[in-house]
Amino acid sequence: MSTVLVAGGASGIGAAAVRALRQRGDDVLLADRNAEAGRRLAAEPMPGALRFLACDFSAAEAAEQAVAAAVELGGGTLDAMFYNAAVLQARPLADWTVAEWDHSSAVNLRAPFLACQAAAPYLQRAPQGRIVLTSSTGALRGHAGMPAYHATKAGLLGLVRSLADELGPSGVTVNAVCPGWVDTPFNDAYWSHQTDPAAAVTALTNSIPLRRQAVSEDLAGVLLFLMSPASGYITGQALVVDGGYTAV
Ligand SMILES: NC(=O)c1ccc[n+]([C@@H]2O[C@H](COP(=O)([O-])OP(=O)(O)OC[C@H]3O[C@@H](n4cnc5c(N)ncnc54)[C@H](O)[C@@H]3O)[C@@H](O)[C@H]2O)c1
Repeated sequence: MSTVLVAGGASGIGAAAVRALRQRGDDVLLADRNAEAGRRLAAEPMPGALRFLACDFSAAEAAEQAVAAAVELGGGTLDAMFYNAAVLQARPLADWTVAEWDHSSAVNLRAPFLACQAAAPYLQRAPQGRIVLTSSTGALRGHAGMPAYHATKAGLLGLVRSLADELGPSGVTVNAVCPGWVDTPFNDAYWSHQTDPAAAVTALTNSIPLRRQAVSEDLAGVLLFLMSPASGYITGQALVVDGGYTAV
């Protein structure tokens, strides 16, 4: 049994990860700004415990608070940290403000860095410390109107490589998962930015070899793998889970 911090997971991919981790017996500290959804998840009976912390990762102190709560749940230990929170803002280049750029940057890139920094001393003492960050195939491609999203998701891949080098000697692995298109409300901003959203969804589906967007549960297997002994020799990597979207 392990103690895992899931940062951003009251819905979508994070919620699927929370359920999969608890199902295998891990205790989870879920930190998210959506208290209502977080408390609903916590009420689900599962083998592993779930403690919920309401927090907003746009605040610089939130990451450290989330790590502290996870360490308390683990009785002074922490085995894995999964940073999954992000925001997606879409608007024409000329309309972007400094405040909007900084908000994306704070949630998508600064907070995972601060969470890694706060968690590292505990993960280094764990038998097999694990860090997993949710990047995106948006780190490998770019779409109009979403410069902050693509820049921050690409930035996470640099963060993963740097931390893999720094934490590798103490046995901590650091990896990113890059989902393709996952059918969650997260992409609403992108779809509303399209001239004909329905046609855009059809065109997208036809461009994916598996001919469908992912569901959140499609990510659970790779996340469990990256937070298990089976992935002990994998670090500094970006694992793409996209139905073949970026392969063709
Ligand atoms: N949906 C997709 O197509 C897709 C594709 C690639 C990558 N991703 C990535 O997957 C991750 C999860 O996305 P999802 O699709 O499950 O979306 P989602 O909206 O269902 O989940 C995002 C979670 O992060 C939380 N969150 C957002 N901002 C926060 C903040 N400031 N503080 C605390 N919590 C915050 C939300 O409350 C929510 O629980 C994100 O990092 C996203 O970039 C999603």
